[in-house]
Amino acid sequence: MTKKNIIDFQRMAAEGEKITWLTGYDYLTAKLQEKAGVDMILVGDSLGMVCLGYDTTFPVTMDDCIRHCQAVRRGAPNTFIVGDMPYMSYQVSDEQAVANAGRFVKESLVDAVKLEGGGAAMVSRAKAINEAGILVIGHIGLTPQFMGQMGGYKAQGKSAGAALKLVNQAKALEEAGSCMILVEGVPAAVGKAITERAKIPILGIGAGSYTHGQLIIYADMVGMYDNFVPKFVKKYADVGAIMVQAFKDYVDEVHQGSFPIDEKHTYLMKEEDEKEFL
Ligand code: KIV
Ligand code: NA
Repeated sequence: MTKKNIIDFQRMAAEGEKITWLTGYDYLTAKLQEKAGVDMILVGDSLGMVCLGYDTTFPVTMDDCIRHCQAVRRGAPNTFIVGDMPYMSYQVSDEQAVANAGRFVKESLVDAVKLEGGGAAMVSRAKAINEAGILVIGHIGLTPQFMGQMGGYKAQGKSAGAALKLVNQAKALEEAGSCMILVEGVPAAVGKAITERAKIPILGIGAGSYTHGQLIIYADMVGMYDNFVPKFVKKYADVGAIMVQAFKDYVDEVHQGSFPIDEKHTYLMKEEDEKEFL
């Protein structure tokens, strides 16, 4: 599979070929995702919960994100990788946003960065990052870095006024030079309205089926992360249960002495060497 770029994604959106996007955080998983033919991998700041065990994304640092992006890049050299800008890596100023977006590109060779929010300051950040030559993806709707203001992880854009505000934010981010926009946790009608008005690919997570593509947190869809599972997650496999069973079987076999007992899993000496040695 050859690596897709932004021109491919524009063509896919124009032709109605859906874009597939999963989060990924480590070498092994990225390798499997590339093998499966996933179009894009997001190294989300959700790594704070999925990999580091935090309750929110707030503690995640630039160094955390870059380390994980590097691992994902090694696992998926032919996949479009997006680095997620962590809390306080872009909020303060356009200058900091550009410098940190630049770190993602220089240190982990991501193809694009993503940032949350559709207000005037974030439109300005998107413009500045784009002007530095870096592909930037906007993220609006349910934006976890605004958790305090949202009063928790709740669907957004449910009233006519709130929906219109999201449509306008998407337009502003597009005009600022965003290469794509991710819309999260909104009614399907809002995902549709934003997609119909857009000239750039619109990706959705919990935004209905009308968007140009779909994103999902991989650990949710394979049944590995069960602390909290949002309404929009479809569980495609129960890998967590399979792993727990494998760990239990191993524990039991070691306790019983039935592993390692077979020659298949044991190094053996040549008979004459063993005689001499023993
Ligand atoms: O961090 C992340 O994984 C994300 C997606 C859930 C949208 O931003
Ligand atoms: Na994120």
